[in-house]
Amino acid sequence: MEPNKKTIRILAFESSCDEMSCAIVENGTKVLSQVIASQAKLHARFGGVVPELASRLHIQSLLPTIELCLEQAQLEAKDIDYIASTSAPGLVGSLLVGLCAAKSLAFAWQKPFIAVHHLAGHIASNYLENESLKPPFLSLIVSGGHSQLVHVKDYTDFEILGTTRDDAAGEALDKIARVLQLPYPGGPQIDRLAQNGNPKAFKFPKVHFKEPEKRFDYSFSGVKTAALSMLNQFNMQAKQQNLPLEQVLNLADFAASYQQNIVEVLLDHAKMALQELGLKQLAIAGGVSANSALRAYAQEHFKDSLVFFPKLVYCTDNAAMIASMAYYQILNREKESHALTQVEAKASCTLADFYAAF
Ligand code: KG4
Ligand code: ZN
Repeated sequence: MEPNKKTIRILAFESSCDEMSCAIVENGTKVLSQVIASQAKLHARFGGVVPELASRLHIQSLLPTIELCLEQAQLEAKDIDYIASTSAPGLVGSLLVGLCAAKSLAFAWQKPFIAVHHLAGHIASNYLENESLKPPFLSLIVSGGHSQLVHVKDYTDFEILGTTRDDAAGEALDKIARVLQLPYPGGPQIDRLAQNGNPKAFKFPKVHFKEPEKRFDYSFSGVKTAALSMLNQFNMQAKQQNLPLEQVLNLADFAASYQQNIVEVLLDHAKMALQELGLKQLAIAGGVSANSALRAYAQEHFKDSLVFFPKLVYCTDNAAMIASMAYYQILNREKESHALTQVEAKASCTLADFYAAF
């Protein structure tokens, strides 16, 4: 890269689960183009992501996704400064497709390559088309596989304050949606169903850990089991009376109460962390940050803090957030790129470990 060049354009890939995405982002915030090839409909008939199918479908959508992304931005190889990709965590077969594509393109086009952590990408989704958020801040990452509270001390300096002990928030929503026979992914379906429900209709247990070192951790398997056993009881009642479930249980009330329980636990811990650390900004990210009850509760109960949410298109997995994070990695440390042969796809790796060397 020329030393005085002000604009840095990054072409990034994200393929850690069931979305193949490619995006071009300028200076970490300006999205020039983004294409997302979602497989959600193809996995829906299995009730969840089938890893082998996901990686095969990624291979099919890879080239059209890159071509469309360059076409939409009206750019070519010479206009791109860096290539980036998620390398961890995720489904290894899925990760490999985007990562190998990025490394190959970097090699062929002779561009530096940057490897990005998926959850750091989610945090960076709050920088997209929003220049006002700058570290330090608290981030609540709520996705299908993770519920984490992270102290973002600087762009590449993360301290994990709390993490999920069992089911993540998205997982807990998806599992109950599946039992209710709602289509996959269940989170948005519960969100929709809950719109007409009373969030106070049913009481569910809230899990907070007593041990001081676990005070920011999350556990949603208890509330999920309580919801399942409540559903079983209503199902039995419906069977005895020869009625459909929805005539003995108000499904909207049930969904709204269950969802509200998860939202409150997520944000209670975030509030505690903000107060303890004396932080004034909360950036919520990940697929569940699209949830309307979570957004409403945060806006209402965090009047003393600035609360940030990504635009809806950047809540669930996307490559623009990976390009954004890559930009801050370049600014903070990486004058040189990662050696192509040294970056591997990893199914699990914490944020803190990934950025330990920064
Ligand atoms: O971040 P993401 O796209 O993938 C992972 O990294 O896991 O998050 C996917 C999760 C799924 O559990 C999905 O049900 C949930 O985000 N989700 C929602 C909503 N939109 C997506 N959950 C609740 N309400 C929504 N509107
Ligand atoms: Zn994600």
